[in-house]
Amino acid sequence: MVKLSFLLNGEPFEAEAPPSMSLADLLRSIAGMRSIHLGCEQGVCGACTVLVDGGSARSCLMLGAQAQGRSVTTAEGVPAQHPEFWPAIEAALVERNAFQCGFCTPAMVVCLEELLAGDKPVSLDAVLRHLSGQLCRCTGYTPVLDAFGEILGRAGLSSGETSSRTPARQVRSHATKDRIDDRGRFTRGGGRYVADLALADDVLAVGFVRSAVARARILSVDLDSTRRAEGVMAAFAPEDLESTLRPLPVRYGPGRLYDWQLLARSSVSYVGEPLAVVVGTNRAAVEEAIDLADIEYEPLSPVVDVEKAREGSPGVVRPEAGTNVLFSLKREQGDVDGALVGGASLEARSFADIIKNSI
Ligand code: FES
Ligand code: FES
Repeated sequence: MVKLSFLLNGEPFEAEAPPSMSLADLLRSIAGMRSIHLGCEQGVCGACTVLVDGGSARSCLMLGAQAQGRSVTTAEGVPAQHPEFWPAIEAALVERNAFQCGFCTPAMVVCLEELLAGDKPVSLDAVLRHLSGQLCRCTGYTPVLDAFGEILGRAGLSSGETSSRTPARQVRSHATKDRIDDRGRFTRGGGRYVADLALADDVLAVGFVRSAVARARILSVDLDSTRRAEGVMAAFAPEDLESTLRPLPVRYGPGRLYDWQLLARSSVSYVGEPLAVVVGTNRAAVEEAIDLADIEYEPLSPVVDVEKAREGSPGVVRPEAGTNVLFSLKREQGDVDGALVGGASLEARSFADIIKNSI
């Protein structure tokens, strides 16, 4: 454990955290900052964005230890930066429908705060570039840009430029006034999502040891070091769960094609296929323990060619199915024979060709 102290939303904050804990996990699970959302944990989606010493940063890519002695701002801390102006900021975001589910909203607010802290007017293109690292999965960007334009304009930070991308319009919600008032909580990090369940005190963390290779025979799965790791309560290989773990029937229409084993037993057929389950007191402990699992593989050639796969080469993807051709389907619509005889041109393509060309 490392002792950390830094400024969090303007207040001194101290914590002890595992050295490998990300800043995002530290802020969520130790500091209780639920505005930090984890979409990808790879620095792509931007949902975990915070300000570190005034500059936006992906908290999933930083270690908590890197915050030592610095100043971190999350969406929870933005309203206090603007005691007078915040109601107008929130109203602009809500009334212009700048969010639906609100998952990306706290990070958008943090980005807005970075712009508001600047001292010169910002062009619309600069705002767009600024937002380009934030992925919104359900609303889109025009309403966000509209709201940002209005807020920056009121703050005297707009270049005054208008853009066809951001028509001057007021998008009114059809929701009730109560619903609109309630939506403001999303801007302050008050949205609640499934991942927040894991932050309750009495909830254990679960993780999976996953295959690092695309196709292989499993020679051995050794979980001894995983089980001994600090914070781990149990680790299960498939044989430990024989009586409880039921296979998942894979069906097409009324037919049962095969039973999918939820934990790989004798072989793996994709990178990331689960091999064992680890249960611990917290996510960081589980993730460290997963890395201690010792898996021995005999690598096999992956199946990457559709035509060859139909012939079973270089092998069967799902051994439970026993074949790579799970079912055959013939579908005809209209007068196929007539069209083949009387058509001006005839083109024949296989499904595999269509897939290859689209890729
Ligand atoms: S969770 Fe950090 S960038 Fe996606
Ligand atoms: S509002 Fe849903 S992801 Fe942006």
